[in-house]
Amino acid sequence: MFLHITVTRKLKLYLVLMFSLLGICFLLVNCSSLSTGENDENTIAPEYTQQEDLISSRECGQCHTEIFKMIKTDGGKHRINCRRCHEQFHTYQPGKMDFQDALPECATCHSLPHGEALDKCTECHQQVHTPKTFGLSTTLTINCDKCHQEIDKQIKTFATQHSNFYCSICHHTKHGYKPECAECHQPHLEEMTQADCVTCHPPHKALEVVYPAETANEVCAACHRLAYETLNNSRRKHAAFNCTKCHPDKHQTIMQCTDCHQQPHDKAIHENIQICGQCHGIAHSLVL
Ligand code: HEC
Ligand code: HEC
Ligand code: HEC
Ligand code: HEC
Ligand code: HEC
Ligand code: HEC
Ligand code: HEC
Ligand code: HEC
Ligand code: HEC
Ligand code: HEC
Ligand code: HEC
Ligand code: HEC
Repeated sequence: MFLHITVTRKLKLYLVLMFSLLGICFLLVNCSSLSTGENDENTIAPEYTQQEDLISSRECGQCHTEIFKMIKTDGGKHRINCRRCHEQFHTYQPGKMDFQDALPECATCHSLPHGEALDKCTECHQQVHTPKTFGLSTTLTINCDKCHQEIDKQIKTFATQHSNFYCSICHHTKHGYKPECAECHQPHLEEMTQADCVTCHPPHKALEVVYPAETANEVCAACHRLAYETLNNSRRKHAAFNCTKCHPDKHQTIMQCTDCHQQPHDKAIHENIQICGQCHGIAHSLVL
């Protein structure tokens, strides 16, 4: 009994090793055909172009020009000879068989890489000859959360008006497309770039605004004109500061006077009046 188990284990190990080696060989052959050289003869499976008894991808491409072009430009790891996938071809006979039966199935080479729920491969990978470039099918649109769980959670946890959108309202056109905020919004100041927007606004929790210490006061002034002008006109030492010195990191943070000044006056004064502003007014003006 025990012996039997060890033998099967060894056998399994042997098989695994065999398949790994085969896999590596397969990959090596693939890689040689993935070279991005300009010469067509070399870009797709050179081994086939050199053997006369096999029809090369280029020859298939003389009639199937579109498919040849698709594989060549966006084929990714499917840039292998047509006949690796189409071992049989031109077998379709109308009336005698389904067209689909003349074509290979994903399952011949792939298992279920995204789990059992996502088993209808071509509903997302709409064009097998460009396996990673595809449009937004319904199946894809309703399944973003299956693979981007963290982002999905984020957008629901930090509720904004964006939380009511499907991901694909912003990520439109095709999978992987990243929008600019300016597609839908005006910047606060004209010279702001997309990089600025996402520095302050994490795209999937847009109201959790954080900003760098060096943010110019003019940026805050876009919305806080009064605070900006009061500070500038005060002629007190606070006027030399960045807004972010007293309102650091996270928007709406307000530091206390005593975070920087402790208790500068006699103990008696501070015991009598605990709110500095009662004598100093607000920090922006320092006058009552
Ligand atoms: C990685 C595997 C793979 C490679 C490489 C490949 N194909 Fe395909 N091809 C398929 C599969 C799978 C289908 C069926 C797609 C479906 O079910 O929608 C298909 C479908 C087709 C079809 C019929 C459907 C259509 O889009 O017209 C043609 C024609 C075809 N391939 C030609 C080619 C040619 C020519 C090449 C080489 C330039 C090639 N294929 C390379 C896997 C491949
Ligand atoms: C002389 C032109 C020509 C050449 C060369 C050619 N095909 Fe086709 N092929 C066609 C035509 C025409 C059809 C039928 C219309 C269609 O589906 O595009 C077809 C259909 C197919 C189909 C789908 C139907 C089926 O019966 O399989 C596949 C897959 C296919 N070709 C693969 C290949 C591959 C792989 C090569 C190269 C080894 C190749 N073809 C070379 C003309 C050609
Ligand atoms: C004849 C074998 C074969 C068939 C049939 C096949 N593939 Fe592939 N596919 C491969 C190989 C080999 C790779 C590269 C694997 C690797 O290197 O990890 C690959 C890679 C991919 C990739 C990743 C591409 C990239 O550039 O990273 C996708 C997506 C994919 N296949 C989808 C499909 C879908 C969907 C089908 C069916 C419509 C399909 N494949 C049919 C062999 C096949
Ligand atoms: C809900 C849509 C959807 C379905 C259904 C789906 N895929 Fe994918 N698949 C994707 C997306 C999106 C990617 C990521 C593409 C990228 O990296 O740009 C992907 C990536 C892949 C990759 C590349 C490996 C990786 O993880 O980066 C392979 C291989 C693949 N899919 C094969 C399949 C096969 C086989 C099936 C069917 C059993 C299938 N897919 C079903 C959407 C889908
Ligand atoms: C089957 C899994 C899968 C599904 C479904 C899926 N994605 Fe992806 N997505 C990936 C993978 C894998 C990548 C590439 C790896 C990465 O950059 O995270 C990717 C990349 C992206 C990127 C580009 C990331 C970057 O940094 O460039 C965006 C944007 C994106 N996906 C949005 C979406 C949206 C929106 C949906 C739904 C419409 C969706 N994805 C559905 C797996 C998936
Ligand atoms: C596809 C369009 C679209 C894109 C892209 C987009 N938004 Fe929005 N956003 C809206 C709409 C619509 C609203 C709600 C009405 C309004 O305020 O205009 C909104 C609201 C907001 C709000 C207020 C949220 C609330 O709950 O009050 C903020 C902040 C915001 N967007 C920031 C951004 C940022 C930053 C980006 C880029 C990372 C961005 N948006 C990208 C359409 C978009
Ligand atoms: C309001 C528009 C909007 C919505 C809704 C939205 N995104 Fe994004 N997404 C963006 C913007 C803008 C970026 C970042 C672009 C940049 O970095 O310049 C982004 C970036 C991404 C990235 C790249 C990685 C990262 O974290 O920066 C992925 C993946 C992504 N989004 C997936 C999703 C998914 C999944 C959903 C739905 C749960 C979703 N997005 C909803 C606008 C949006
Ligand atoms: C220095 C940080 C910062 C930068 C850079 C920034 N924002 Fe904002 N944004 C804010 C703050 C703070 C709010 C107010 C948030 C609140 O209401 O709590 C805001 C609010 C918004 C709103 C909500 C509606 C409104 O106008 O009050 C939108 C939309 C918005 N920003 C879009 C953008 C876009 C687009 C960019 C890039 C062009 C951008 N933001 C760059 C800090 C910034
Ligand atoms: C797009 C407009 C916008 C920009 C830009 C903006 N804010 Fe605000 N800020 C707001 C809004 C809206 C509020 C909330 C007002 C309310 O709730 O009464 C606010 C509130 C505040 C508050 C007060 C919080 C409180 O509890 O009273 C401080 C402090 C503040 N912002 C500092 C800043 C600083 C510093 C900057 C620049 C780095 C800045 N803001 C940029 C819109 C903006
Ligand atoms: C982020 C730190 C910080 C905060 C918060 C802060 N201050 Fe100051 N304050 C300073 C610094 C630094 C000076 C300049 C000291 C110097 O040059 O001697 C100053 C100067 C002053 C002065 C002298 C002004 C002048 O022009 O001579 C007064 C009065 C003052 N602060 C009161 C306050 C009050 C009241 C608050 C709260 C409402 C406050 N400060 C909050 C850092 C801060
Ligand atoms: C009873 C009124 C009163 C209270 C309460 C008070 N101050 Fe003052 N403070 C003054 C006066 C008057 C001056 C001298 C005039 C000036 O610089 O505005 C002064 C000066 C200062 C100065 C400048 C001192 C220097 O050496 O240049 C700072 C800093 C200061 N106060 C901070 C604070 C802080 C912080 C608090 C609260 C913890 C506070 N004050 C509470 C009345 C007060
Ligand atoms: C020396 C520290 C300091 C500086 C510099 C500073 N603030 Fe404040 N700010 C405060 C304090 C403290 C409060 C709370 C009210 C008070 O006690 O004075 C406040 C309150 C606010 C408020 C809410 C109350 C109101 O007046 O609307 C806003 C908005 C604000 N600051 C924006 C700004 C902006 C914008 C700048 C730059 C132009 C700025 N602050 C510079 C310390 C500062």
